Amino acid sequence: MAIIYHAKTNTFHLQNRQVSYIFTILKNGRPAQLYYGKRVHDRADFSHLLELEPRAMSACSFPDDRAFSPEHIKWEYQDYGAGDVREPAFTLLQENGSRITDFVYESHRITDGKPKLPGLPATYVDTPEEAQTLELTLYDALIDTRIVLYYTLYRDLPVITRSARFICHSGEGVRLLRAMSLSVDLPEDRFDLITLTGSWQRERAVSRRPLVPGLQGIYSTRGCSSHQFNPFLALARPETTEQSGEVYGFSLVYSGNFFAAADVDTYHVTRLLMGIHPQGFNWPLENGGEFWTPEAVMVYSDTGLNGMSQAYHTLYRTRLTRGVWRDRPRPILLNSWEAFHYDFDQNRLLEVGKLGAELGIELLVSDDGWFGHRDNDRSSLGDWYPDPKKLPDGLRGLYERVHSLGLELGLWIEPEMVSEDSNLFRAHPEWRLETPNRPVSQSRSQYLLDYANPQVVDHLFSALERILSEAPISYVKWDMNRSMSEAFSGALSAKEQGTVMHRYILGVYALYERLIRRFPHILFESCASGGGRCDPGMLYYAPQCWLSDNTDAWERVKIQYGSSLAYPIISFGAHLAAVPNRQLHRSAPLDTRANVALFGTFGYELDITKMTEAQ
Ligand code: DGJ
Repeated sequence: MAIIYHAKTNTFHLQNRQVSYIFTILKNGRPAQLYYGKRVHDRADFSHLLELEPRAMSACSFPDDRAFSPEHIKWEYQDYGAGDVREPAFTLLQENGSRITDFVYESHRITDGKPKLPGLPATYVDTPEEAQTLELTLYDALIDTRIVLYYTLYRDLPVITRSARFICHSGEGVRLLRAMSLSVDLPEDRFDLITLTGSWQRERAVSRRPLVPGLQGIYSTRGCSSHQFNPFLALARPETTEQSGEVYGFSLVYSGNFFAAADVDTYHVTRLLMGIHPQGFNWPLENGGEFWTPEAVMVYSDTGLNGMSQAYHTLYRTRLTRGVWRDRPRPILLNSWEAFHYDFDQNRLLEVGKLGAELGIELLVSDDGWFGHRDNDRSSLGDWYPDPKKLPDGLRGLYERVHSLGLELGLWIEPEMVSEDSNLFRAHPEWRLETPNRPVSQSRSQYLLDYANPQVVDHLFSALERILSEAPISYVKWDMNRSMSEAFSGALSAKEQGTVMHRYILGVYALYERLIRRFPHILFESCASGGGRCDPGMLYYAPQCWLSDNTDAWERVKIQYGSSLAYPIISFGAHLAAVPNRQLHRSAPLDTRANVALFGTFGYELDITKMTEAQ
């Protein structure tokens, strides 16, 4: 593996045994893409791959060189307005109202290993020899602003990770209106676009269609990565199958609003973009202020979808997931949700726990309903203390009894939310996300807490630290059951409101990080009404994700297959449920239901005391 720099031709070649990624600095100082794909031999000069052509009516950067037409060149990370008319990688609004920028090569640095992204989830290395990183610095002198493009090449995987960092030193400042994590121009469009789409209960269904000229892609503006579109897409050759053919995978390590698209021009060049959704995004930068984009992970495979999936699985299982649970077999659990909903107490939990212990179940999870006075979904979110009616001996008492049966205890939480009927809301109505003097929407009778406000995150940390210290809880299911609306933070100035949605997710990451450090033994499972936030960002904190609220075995096969395109099966929360199925009222034999659930981290989601002896 090596990241090679050819000084004479100003060319960079990222090359390992499987892939090559090549770009060069052109005479206008901007980096231009030359090649991305199967490994090629290195050479000092790849300029034969540069295609220059005068396009009718197009802007030219040099009066004496009509062929230097920016809209025809394949760029690395391009802006809009100075000749390139495609979807840009970034946009900076300046003090005088202009969005025209001119970032040119300033310097570069090649180092072993991989730097961390501050406050953001990212893939990592265990030893510096596993990867090399190129930092390419571009500078715009007029606005005293730099962009550092990060490229990390893994030694043993067909993987290149990308991210960008913006640093503005000018006192006047700039506003970042768009900042993609990656932009790649491929010289052709003979590809199928593969995405994972769906809805609640139908997450990550595989969609495959040929690219056509124009813009096509996926996105979320819901504040979470969403059931509808997962932050993953692939470009596969039309002939590519599971086992053969070329495919490029793109995956974003992020859990908030995202945008991922292929922009195909009429000369058949494909620009692939992926990053935070620009809708509502507006990040002020001044006096040395920085902005880091989330990380995007590119995989190239010439052994079909299977080769791509294996690379993602290996990377995400071993170099994204962290902590003691990364390499450990996961416990077989029984979750109370489909067994009891809100209708349970300590005795009912212990009854299933007793039988569960005999059947080899290792972990009893009390899902929604154990806290506040939560007998339905209309109250108590925010009141993170046990309901004395249901758990008269508190969490400690429950734990001791569960543990004496030979089981561990797990808990459900939904810490990003607040119910109107809660002590937290009565004490701090100003902590919900709401736009002043405008109606505020509810969903499932709940509001989002303002995670852009560090005070809110601090409060939640203390509340959760208290309950997780009360008893040695070994598993937490962190749920999130509504998308974001009327996003406005009372804790931020008018100028900062365009940062709320990203700050919100940074707040979620910060809370996860603090809890993981404080309770390193806890296994976290992420959830968002099933699989509304099963993304790589979450995997950095929670090694498992509850893939879907749909527990029908036949539907689960599709959901698990789609998810497996990008995510390792050890991260799939998959449970055996009762029949007729709660969601679809359909039946499947017990062994089918069990076999399907065994393709994930196996668990039970039913009242086992209702099963027959034979079952
Ligand atoms: C949605 C989750 O997906 C379910 O598994 C369950 O935890 C409910 N929320 C509880 O309200």
